[in-house]
Amino acid sequence: MLVVGASSGIGRALALLAAGAGAAVAVAARRLDELEATVSQAKAAGGAAQRLWCDVTEPQAARSVAADAAQLLGGLDTVVFSSGVAPLGRLSDASAEEWEVVLATNVVGGALVLAGALQPLRDAHGASGPRPSVVVLSTHIVERPWPGIVPYAASKAALATVARGLRGEEPWLRVLDVVVPNTTTPFADGWEKAAASEAVTAWANGGYLEGPVWSAEQTAAAVLDALVAEEGPDDVDLTALSTD
Ligand SMILES: NC(=O)c1ccc[n+]([C@@H]2O[C@H](COP(=O)([O-])OP(=O)(O)OC[C@H]3O[C@@H](n4cnc5c(N)ncnc54)[C@H](OP(=O)(O)O)[C@@H]3O)[C@@H](O)[C@H]2O)c1
Repeated sequence: MLVVGASSGIGRALALLAAGAGAAVAVAARRLDELEATVSQAKAAGGAAQRLWCDVTEPQAARSVAADAAQLLGGLDTVVFSSGVAPLGRLSDASAEEWEVVLATNVVGGALVLAGALQPLRDAHGASGPRPSVVVLSTHIVERPWPGIVPYAASKAALATVARGLRGEEPWLRVLDVVVPNTTTPFADGWEKAAASEAVTAWANGGYLEGPVWSAEQTAAAVLDALVAEEGPDDVDLTALSTD
């Protein structure tokens, strides 16, 4: 398994659970020190993981990361694209550069990682046995974009469309689109504090913050469950599940 975006949050939790369960795991992202922490934690959990540097906004790096993982692991049957960024700000203030970073990371980066994964995954696809899988992580906020992170919502809608399009073009491949509930991760750590507090107040007052907040481990476990359920749906909405 390759997890892109495994230096923190849901991607890291997913890589740790998979490695702890005995899977051969490669972890990719930009921050090598945080990837090294993922590798150490996988070892402490009784598993193993190998790290790969990848900035998905660099087309060559995005396209080649799955082939590199296949080489490291001796084959590849699953790719999870967990990388994502969400700058905070009103649409009226969003610069072209901010739009470009969001789209380059969340949409183009994801599409290129998945495109580059096709050959290594096809190589792993035997005549029988389970189909290789790719997973993208979506969000319910595409239906009602939260004020202040509209470019992020737009990018996740586009990534989900990429996933659905891939299903039609590559029927041998299982393409999971998993709608992730609100999950506690470092996702918003880079937001300026006053602006973040203002945004959270607006979301609370506007009724955007309904529903439970999951831990990264809960979300990761539910994504892995969806992956293991080979006959399950390819569009998975975790927000419809209870955490009990
Ligand atoms: N948390 C939630 O409530 C929630 C809800 C719905 C969907 N999601 C989705 O879940 C996914 C994981 O989010 P998270 O909450 O776990 O956030 P997170 O902890 O901030 O993780 C984001 C990951 O993306 C990676 N990343 C960012 N830019 C990258 C780049 N240019 N190249 C490669 N990797 C890059 C980061 O690694 P580096 O910085 O080291 O590169 C990090 O590993 C995202 O796709 C997000 O949209 C999250």
